[in-house]
Amino acid sequence: MHLTKEEERILEGGQGYASMKSMQILTALGDIFGADKLIPVKSVQVSGVSYHNLGDAGLDYLANLAKDGSVKTPTFLNPAGMDLKDWKELGISEDFAEKQKKVIGAFSKMGINTTCTCTPYLIGIKPGLGEHVAWAESSAVTYCNSVIGARTNREGGPSALASGLIGKTPNYGLHLDEERKPDLFVSVDSKLKTLSDWGALGYAIGKRGKNKIALIEGVSKPPEDYLKTFSASIVTYGSKPIYHIAGVTPEAGRFEKPSERITIGEAELKEAYEAMNDKDDTIDFVSLGCPHASLEEIKRVSELLKGRSVKTELWVACARPVKEKAEQLGYNDIIREAGGKVAADTCMVVAPVKGRFKSVATTSAKGCYYSQGHNNMKTHIGPIDKCVEAAINGKWS
Ligand code: F3S
Repeated sequence: MHLTKEEERILEGGQGYASMKSMQILTALGDIFGADKLIPVKSVQVSGVSYHNLGDAGLDYLANLAKDGSVKTPTFLNPAGMDLKDWKELGISEDFAEKQKKVIGAFSKMGINTTCTCTPYLIGIKPGLGEHVAWAESSAVTYCNSVIGARTNREGGPSALASGLIGKTPNYGLHLDEERKPDLFVSVDSKLKTLSDWGALGYAIGKRGKNKIALIEGVSKPPEDYLKTFSASIVTYGSKPIYHIAGVTPEAGRFEKPSERITIGEAELKEAYEAMNDKDDTIDFVSLGCPHASLEEIKRVSELLKGRSVKTELWVACARPVKEKAEQLGYNDIIREAGGKVAADTCMVVAPVKGRFKSVATTSAKGCYYSQGHNNMKTHIGPIDKCVEAAINGKWS
């Protein structure tokens, strides 16, 4: 990969330790993937924020970079292991909270915006069509490439942070026109009605289209929230972090239909639902907001909970600015009065919930994947109203 004189100077340590380390990471990546050069990025999203995933080794790594590192482009964070303010409500221990605060402190010292969310595009961090960014969380990356039409690879935590500290990323993969071309044509032969139907569609395509880019036909334009859950699901279950939907996503019209074709119909969606719905109907945890909830979703949960009370633990995860807005509008009070919690900055997967719950109900296919594999939970997936009923009854009906 070609480096400018200035980039070479950084690589040799001319701008200090954090910049040198970051340039080492970016040049190694660029060389492995055949990038020609580094390109500037408009924003960066860093993953690997939860102390649950980082541990002390990760915290030490960040603390070292924070000694002389500072970001060169707007940089923000993926969800952390707790609500940074109301962590006690979520049953987080003092020890964990102390470590998590140190992690956030290290990021903050590097000039990073400590808003922790996987739906930055809901809080005004929305790049333009064709703009280059370096984002790390898979659903955000997929939404960014597909729905917004901005360009990012699926960065790892260290490479995203390196991009923040340098302000650039290697020019390869989904930054290039030719790498965004679909190679699987998907015809959808089913009427999708709910948020979880879109999660099931992502499961069905992801499982069949391993590492391919889908060009999808046969669906009409859904609400933004449905595309956010679909983005999380399709990449989790196997496809590349980009898809195109005819008449819906901005780049779909640029491409020829790929010759490899599949059809997803009722049978494939049923199979997806069956894989994510356990036979045991007992529920002790209901988690909504994966990816992080919009204001509309929080409003809907508050309407469904008004005057009722939950039997299970119930979290509605979201970005802090969304929680604050929901607070002003009175939605959070209704959810709290029913016994639920609105959890900013965190989520069901990165919070330390392993061992606390046996069975989760959620609207999210991605949430099912990680709850089964990462947190050893049984899972149930369905629309918001069904999940809220499960929270009230402790049963999946
Ligand atoms: Fe976001 Fe956590 Fe789901 S990062 S996509 S809420 S697993």
